[in-house]
Amino acid sequence: MSEIHIGGFRRLRGEIPIQGSKNGVLPMMAASVLSDETTVLTNVPAIQDVDCMMGILKFMGCRCTLEAGTLTIDPSGMKETMLPECYVRQMRSSIVLLGAMLGRFGQAATCYPGGCSIGKRPVDFHIMALRSMGARISEEDGRITARAELLTGSVARLPYPSVGATENAILAAVTARGTTVIQGAAREPEIQELCGFLNAMGAEVRGGGTGEILIQGKRRLHGCCYQVPGDRIVAGTYLIAAMAGKGEVRLNGVNPEHLSAVSDALTAAGAEIEKGKDFISVVMKERPQAISIATEPYPGFPTDLQSPLLALLCCGQGESRICENVFEGRYETAAELCKLGADIRVSGNTAVVFGKDGLEGGYSQAKDLRGGAALVIAGLMARGETIISDCFHIERGYEDICRDLRMAGADIQWQEEKPKEKEE
Ligand code: UD1
Repeated sequence: MSEIHIGGFRRLRGEIPIQGSKNGVLPMMAASVLSDETTVLTNVPAIQDVDCMMGILKFMGCRCTLEAGTLTIDPSGMKETMLPECYVRQMRSSIVLLGAMLGRFGQAATCYPGGCSIGKRPVDFHIMALRSMGARISEEDGRITARAELLTGSVARLPYPSVGATENAILAAVTARGTTVIQGAAREPEIQELCGFLNAMGAEVRGGGTGEILIQGKRRLHGCCYQVPGDRIVAGTYLIAAMAGKGEVRLNGVNPEHLSAVSDALTAAGAEIEKGKDFISVVMKERPQAISIATEPYPGFPTDLQSPLLALLCCGQGESRICENVFEGRYETAAELCKLGADIRVSGNTAVVFGKDGLEGGYSQAKDLRGGAALVIAGLMARGETIISDCFHIERGYEDICRDLRMAGADIQWQEEKPKEKEE
């Protein structure tokens, strides 16, 4: 099912439960191979990227089952150390298996990971961190091969707080000999959750969520049960969707503290936001005010919500400005929004948005996961029907965006894409 049809603007009102976090669960799935005992994860989202990571783990010899949000991983039968190319090419997160596999088996090999086409996305910091712990890594013919009889604790200084490189370094260090210090670490909540999960497996990790993480290596970890937290990016997307629908929406099952920069930006755009222990709600009465924001590593405004915010600001009152500082290729969605009547001028990493009173329904194409969600938001503000194609991108990270937004009254559904006419 790869097309989404949206009937046009409707005022949104209701409550939506937030699925488990994609960026939280994927490194936990990789971490589960560090022990030979069974791990059980709950609140696991039913999304393509989880299916893909399960495909990788099964290929490597793990037994995995996902039933009603509970994922059981039994890695006791693992023997394969070459990651399967067909799955690795589909997702970015597969690269963090490198650190975990090195820790458990002393070797691993993979092709370069895929994932959204939002920039160059090299893996040099990952490799640098693993090398600092004594891994021997070669890159040849599009393949990365890593070996280490025994990883040794080290001081790994990351030149930029890369989320994936921080995860890879942690996963390698938890079973290394001695102490590792990761300096310049990413501070995203998903890193903190990964550290909590590893500690539940018997690891000794301190400082997760800060710029310096300290890991005392342990040779053996054990299985555990762990609940995946709510997805802050899905929650942020739905906050913005609620604003697009000039609505009143409450999102349950998410930690609002992880959305501080987002709620600051949305408040500046005119939203009234209320936060509870595990919910966040928004009321929006008018067209958004024009604002200026720049994306930054956490705790700054997340790059993953840049495209959804860009879509909202297309209907802002005046001229907004967005500066994308993390992924240089995130503006492909701007051209798709312009097909729906938006006025966006992109120059380098800056987009200037001239707000209009409503967009026009039409055809547009999802270019990546969050860009696809941005087109949904545009469709919620449009006059007439919007059809979005290539929505397989959206399914990588949102369990069912149509089901969720319908709970708040949106006129939105999945449609089978018609087979293309045969070309002569
Ligand atoms: C993760 C998230 C993604 C989010 C991003 C930034 C997952 C599965 N994905 O992606 O949703 O948008 O964090 O919050 O968790 N870089 C290098 N060399 C490296 C690694 C990164 O130059 O070795 C650069 C990247 O090209 C990018 C920046 O660092 O410009 C940030 O990338 P990183 O934080 O690593 O993002 P991901 O882990 O890929």
